[in-house]
Amino acid sequence: MSGARHTILPEPSAPLAEGSAHLREALNKALPLRPKHRAALPGGIARLSNLLTVDRDQLPPDYMSRPEHLAAYLHWFLPWNVQRQGRLLEGLSLDLPAGARILDLGAGPFTFLVALWLARPELRERELRYLAVDRAEPALKAGRRLFQALAGDDAPWHVDTSRRLPRTGRADLLVAANYVNELEADRAGRQRGPDLDPAERTMADWERLLDPAGRLLVVEPGVRTAAARLVRLRAGALARGWRAIAPCPHQETCPVPGRHGGSWCHFAADAVGTPRWLAALGKSAKLPKERVSLSFLLMTRDGLTDGNPGQVRVVSDTFSLPDRKQGCYGCSDKGLVLLRSGLGGGAGGPVSGDLVRVRWPDLIERDPRSRALVVDYDVGSRRRRRP
Ligand SMILES: C[S@@+](CC[C@H](N)C(=O)[O-])C[C@H]1O[C@@H](n2cnc3c(N)ncnc32)[C@H](O)[C@@H]1O
Repeated sequence: MSGARHTILPEPSAPLAEGSAHLREALNKALPLRPKHRAALPGGIARLSNLLTVDRDQLPPDYMSRPEHLAAYLHWFLPWNVQRQGRLLEGLSLDLPAGARILDLGAGPFTFLVALWLARPELRERELRYLAVDRAEPALKAGRRLFQALAGDDAPWHVDTSRRLPRTGRADLLVAANYVNELEADRAGRQRGPDLDPAERTMADWERLLDPAGRLLVVEPGVRTAAARLVRLRAGALARGWRAIAPCPHQETCPVPGRHGGSWCHFAADAVGTPRWLAALGKSAKLPKERVSLSFLLMTRDGLTDGNPGQVRVVSDTFSLPDRKQGCYGCSDKGLVLLRSGLGGGAGGPVSGDLVRVRWPDLIERDPRSRALVVDYDVGSRRRRRP
């Protein structure tokens, strides 16, 4: 398996776009709303959005068991997370052979499974085993109904749920999407002895659940605090012998850790192909969305993985440089890189999430502002490599 295709958040494929357009019917089957509750949905979405972002300390731990919050999550946050996770699943060449076992921690209403079903239709005929773990039983029940409404009764995917983490396991893919921040909040309230650092402790817990050749996919929002959390998790994992597959093309220290106001590792793209019903709901909730963004980490304990050393992962949007040139920041085994494209670089230059090959310069030039290594990038080489 290779870590990444050319770009991380490609535009939604036809199956993902069509599936998202019809997701509303499946959601209505999974959690039918009375007219009164449907009318209250935009307000409920705005309230939950506030609790998940600005007033996080007031978020009740059982929010996913509360009808108002579950309805808001299911009808708004889940479809958007399906967009993000679905596009990521298209961007990562994450192979799941027949018989693969997926363990989804903090699964909620099966967001990841829905994204996988919609974005990777070639897997629909394979026998996959999926275990969703979440402390909120109502979310798991809604997820089961949602998946059934989408996939019908004959899908060969075996789905199970649990409110507790198994003690051990042999998962081939461990997923933790929008979960690590809640895990940390849980832990912060508990007394711990002076033992492992929190990231290493998390990895030690997760190692017990994963096949030695298995992979871990952690997805978080594209905001600085979340990305910084993933950088800590990555460091803890590397210390325990894990290897990064993506987005990092290397196993060195992260050059964009989001500390001291500096850049953080995240990926953003235009929210193209948003289903009309979702855009309309966003308008009513006064939460219009034009971009999708996320931070993520794909790692393995399979010691053979080396990432893509020598290549550069684009980790910023494009910006203008003097002399009508374009620039963007990239992550590499040589640290932070400023990729500088020549005239016309705006059209066809590298974009956020791309993994590109570069010709490393003989003479070292540093960007005075960021101290990044400046690398001239030939736009033609990207055009040729587009699939
Ligand atoms: C923000 S939701 C994410 C749901 C889904 N993974 C997604 O990406 O949309 C976080 C979920 O984690 C669950 N959760 C938080 N802490 C947990 C814990 N300690 N054990 C089990 N589930 C937990 C919550 O109930 C909630 O459903």
